[in-house]
Amino acid sequence: MSEAGTTVAPVDTDRDKGIEDWLTDTRVSYDTVAASYADQMREALDAAPYVRAALALFAEKVRSADGGPVADVGCGPGHVTAHLRELGLDAFGFDLSPAMVDVARREYPGVRFEVGSMTELDLPDASVAGLLAFWSLVHVPDSALPGVFTHFRRVVRAGGPLLVGFHVGEGSRLKSEGYGGHPMKVYVHRRQPAQVAALLREAGFTIEAQWLLSPDADVPGAVLFAI
Ligand SMILES: C[S@@+](CC[C@H](N)C(=O)[O-])C[C@H]1O[C@@H](n2cnc3c(N)ncnc32)[C@H](O)[C@@H]1O
Repeated sequence: MSEAGTTVAPVDTDRDKGIEDWLTDTRVSYDTVAASYADQMREALDAAPYVRAALALFAEKVRSADGGPVADVGCGPGHVTAHLRELGLDAFGFDLSPAMVDVARREYPGVRFEVGSMTELDLPDASVAGLLAFWSLVHVPDSALPGVFTHFRRVVRAGGPLLVGFHVGEGSRLKSEGYGGHPMKVYVHRRQPAQVAALLREAGFTIEAQWLLSPDADVPGAVLFAI
């Protein structure tokens, strides 16, 4: 996901916001932009060969760990979930925004999409063969990340892969509009791969690979592969 074409104002911190505040702001923001986000992202993977390569590698890792259900956490309109299914995975999606889930269900009938927050990941222990979180962690404040990664570790069965993608950089921005000029009130957190990797290790993951995407862009991306 790129931050291009959006209004992004730097802020010092969101540490004073309570968890319900940022979850509500994020939910309402993505409910507002769900249809236009889907329009902008529907074909996005076609122009992202390195991201597709990461997804293909993730799919290979799931298959070599004997397959099974795969969770796309913060799935948005479901285009990545659908791509994982095209790659042969039994993928389902999970998102905070009911409007995003409605769009995903409409666009990909027959695929399972559920509403929920990764901060209270409502999945049984060791119930998924792999977990993907693509540019959804960018809205989770530092204070909530350890809890989210503990949930990820809890629900992914031993040996199953985790793939996370996020914006690289420092600090937090308040995004006040996006995806066609719609009002938003959502914090976007940029992080260094080493910082995310350290938190994943603390939650019990082993980092297998780290890719830097578009390193010459204003806001590069990163994907981390872990088990
Ligand atoms: C930038 S979009 C990314 C969507 C999709 N993964 C993609 O790659 O295009 C961020 C998504 O994360 C979801 N999200 C944000 N916080 C979440 C949370 N706590 N739990 C689940 N989903 C969340 C938002 O509703 C939104 O759909």
